[in-house]
Amino acid sequence: MNFAVGYPVNHGALSFPSELNGQDKEDMTLALESVALDTRLQAILSRAGVGLKAEHYRTIVATRPDIGFFEVHAENYMGAGGPPHRYLTEIRNHYPLSLHGVGLSIGAARPLDRDHLRRLKQLIERYQPGLFSEHLAWSTHDTRFFDDLLPVPYTSETLALVTDHIDEVQDTLGRQMLLENPSTYLAFAESTYSEIDFIVETVRRTGCGLLLDVNNVYVSSTNQRWDPIRYLDEYPLAHVQEIHLAGYTREADEAGRPLLIDTHDRPVDEHVWSLFEHAIGRVGPKPTLIEWDTKVPTWPELKAEADRAEATMVAVGKRERHRAAIGY
Ligand SMILES: [Fe+2]
Repeated sequence: MNFAVGYPVNHGALSFPSELNGQDKEDMTLALESVALDTRLQAILSRAGVGLKAEHYRTIVATRPDIGFFEVHAENYMGAGGPPHRYLTEIRNHYPLSLHGVGLSIGAARPLDRDHLRRLKQLIERYQPGLFSEHLAWSTHDTRFFDDLLPVPYTSETLALVTDHIDEVQDTLGRQMLLENPSTYLAFAESTYSEIDFIVETVRRTGCGLLLDVNNVYVSSTNQRWDPIRYLDEYPLAHVQEIHLAGYTREADEAGRPLLIDTHDRPVDEHVWSLFEHAIGRVGPKPTLIEWDTKVPTWPELKAEADRAEATMVAVGKRERHRAAIGY
């Protein structure tokens, strides 16, 4: 594949003045390569997309599949160059992109990592994603693995912390971020807010948008035995700009009760598809991502999940218009 056609990227070895340190070289490499990007196709339409995986780079570049957008984990592209950036640049020139962070630790009781934030800003300037999102969670270390994301107790103290961090992120990046609802396994005894009230107040104080992960709603509701439909009906859907769908693993706790783990390693479950229909029936079609991060399937299998999400949005849209027309 000829990556040079249409956009003159220098993919050869760059030479730097000897006095530059490693960080300066990295910054310069990012700056040089960023010249190449065609930043049209920035807005993400209400279509389905998939997480971009290295296993599918070549197929996507060679076949240009009809798909709404791709999403990447920011932390996987914080290196300076190499094949991941070359493929992402090529793909970004033909598709809108959303950037999903898993390493900012928005909910941690310590200052944000300024170096991480700086790298994030560089990535955003370089790839001009239509959406940027992070989790309502904290991670034990600078990790790129979603299963190291830990929930926060919903208290006044954590609310102040989370809102301060989101303010800092949005001020630094100069753009709105979307906050994703977490998958949880237990409720914190010290929580004084419901998850919904905590999210509503966070949006009110910061002006952030929301990423509704429907699989996380199903996983949390099963583990904690609450009603996912009621959660969706109370959720501030007007602020949702993206939806996530994913697969989970069913296990059992010591008492034999179902324990769902947010593994992103299989197709979306039928219960989650039903909740998705319910959500978009209320909020309308939204950019919807199939998250499949481990045991990555073949491209046709992944694309079929995205096609189902898109067909569901079309069918629900028709149903809702019909209902409106007959006054149902
Ligand atoms: Fe998600």
